[in-house]
Amino acid sequence: MPDLNTPTTWQHFIGGSPVEPASGEYFDSTDPATRRTLYRAARGTAPDVDRAVTAARKAFEDPRWRDLSQTRRGHLLRRLGELLAENADELAPMESRDNGKLLREMRGQLAALPEYYHYYAGLADKIHGATVPASDLRVLNYTVREPVGVVGAITPWNSPLTLTTSKLAPALCTGNTVVIKPSEYTSATGLRLAELALEAGFPPGVVNVVTGFGVEAGAALVDHPGLAKISFTGSTATGSRIAASAASRFIGSTLELGGKSPQLVFEDADVGNAAMGVVAGVFAAAGQTCIAGSRVLAHRSVYEELLERVCERARTIRIGDPLDEATELGPLAFEAQRDKVAGYVDLGRSEGARVLTGGASSDGGLGGYFYEPTVLVDVDNSMRVVREEIFGPVVAVMPFDTEEEAVRLANETEYGLAAGVWTSNLARAHRVAGRLDAGTVWVNTYRAMSPMSPRQGFKSSGVGIEHGTESVNEYTRLKSVWINTAEEPVADPFTMRS
Ligand code: NAI
Ligand code: MG
Repeated sequence: MPDLNTPTTWQHFIGGSPVEPASGEYFDSTDPATRRTLYRAARGTAPDVDRAVTAARKAFEDPRWRDLSQTRRGHLLRRLGELLAENADELAPMESRDNGKLLREMRGQLAALPEYYHYYAGLADKIHGATVPASDLRVLNYTVREPVGVVGAITPWNSPLTLTTSKLAPALCTGNTVVIKPSEYTSATGLRLAELALEAGFPPGVVNVVTGFGVEAGAALVDHPGLAKISFTGSTATGSRIAASAASRFIGSTLELGGKSPQLVFEDADVGNAAMGVVAGVFAAAGQTCIAGSRVLAHRSVYEELLERVCERARTIRIGDPLDEATELGPLAFEAQRDKVAGYVDLGRSEGARVLTGGASSDGGLGGYFYEPTVLVDVDNSMRVVREEIFGPVVAVMPFDTEEEAVRLANETEYGLAAGVWTSNLARAHRVAGRLDAGTVWVNTYRAMSPMSPRQGFKSSGVGIEHGTESVNEYTRLKSVWINTAEEPVADPFTMRS
């Protein structure tokens, strides 16, 4: 842990070593719960990015990495998972301090994170091509899944270690090298992760980190000609810019973007469970998750009861120091994010929404950037507060009368990341899951996630797949090899084919 009175200075991590920024400049990272400066990180610019991509390319071609068997790659991933577990007591408070996430949530994430590395460790030597039937039996045609090269991973501040892992683990599993650009609000744990990767035995240059701002370090990485693939999690606006740049150079992009996920509570639901699911869905992590269940649609017959239960729990949520195990709601990750949330609630009021509970900023008794858990009613799908991603502890609740109407209202959004369905009717659960325009649908639960389960954002929520065996395709290219096994001389060159 950095000493709060004398902030540490972090350099980039390139080619296995700390590297000073070409600019000579550093920027502060603060603790949003107390506004104290935690550390200073290197302000990355194009020359640093170039150095990192060059190191990553060199490592990609180095026999120590290129010629490592897939099984050995798996061993390294397994070791990295173990190192994360061994260092959980350092990493959990480090990230909690940096973005205000509850220490108890970080402990939970760190208990799960090794499993992501272990999953991809097991997958590493099960990736292979196929033998393909050819029309001429003297020809052998087979496919090979190859790594693509240098992967750029640009990540946000809400769950840095977890979201970086969703990119790093599959990219390494498939033999690529990586340059990570963490969010400027949370540089520390990404740098530690790269150090641990080196300790685990990944050769120098396989995992690099350039810290800095999106428009400087981030844009330089996205635009670097040496990049073979870009993987991004963050806002839809930035994702759109990144996708355009990648497309213009014909490199692949995997994008995990924003959401405005609906939770549908039917008249046959266990309302107590649904209320817990709603609270967990939007107030956990102070609503700063891409999958936040920020729109609740409740059948008119359970609408009042659900609201009562959600508001009752919202009012008793303990706001405070994220490092205190009793705290249930920490701050927003930085001042502008808190102001954005406050601005949205004010906008909602002016649009005609009624604030049932919450609706105010708080300093959490610590001078930090907190916002109360907030429930909005008298809302409809035309309001910006219902259409746009707020990324804070704010939920909009509206009633519906029929299943048809619920599905229509739920799908009436530009996003399609996730959805929740609360019902005790089995047929309805499947029917509605089938009709929702969302990449992940949870029934009678919310926020469940596993390395084994693929996830994909529909519509403006993303492109490509993270987790699961399908994620391997995002970080590999498929080569088709044709071998002529015939003894006969090659025939007429003008009709030659198989
Ligand atoms: P952002 O999408 O701008 O930042 C995410 C990452 O992209 C950061 O590492 C940032 O430095 C980088 N970046 C920014 N501009 C870039 C560019 N032009 N080229 C390359 N990289 C760039 O998100 P930001 O500004 O941190 O948050 C703004 C809003 O985005 C939030 O209020 C929230 O609504 C949304 N957001 C959504 C997330 C999600 O998981 N769905 C995660 C983070 C933010
Ligand atoms: Mg910070």
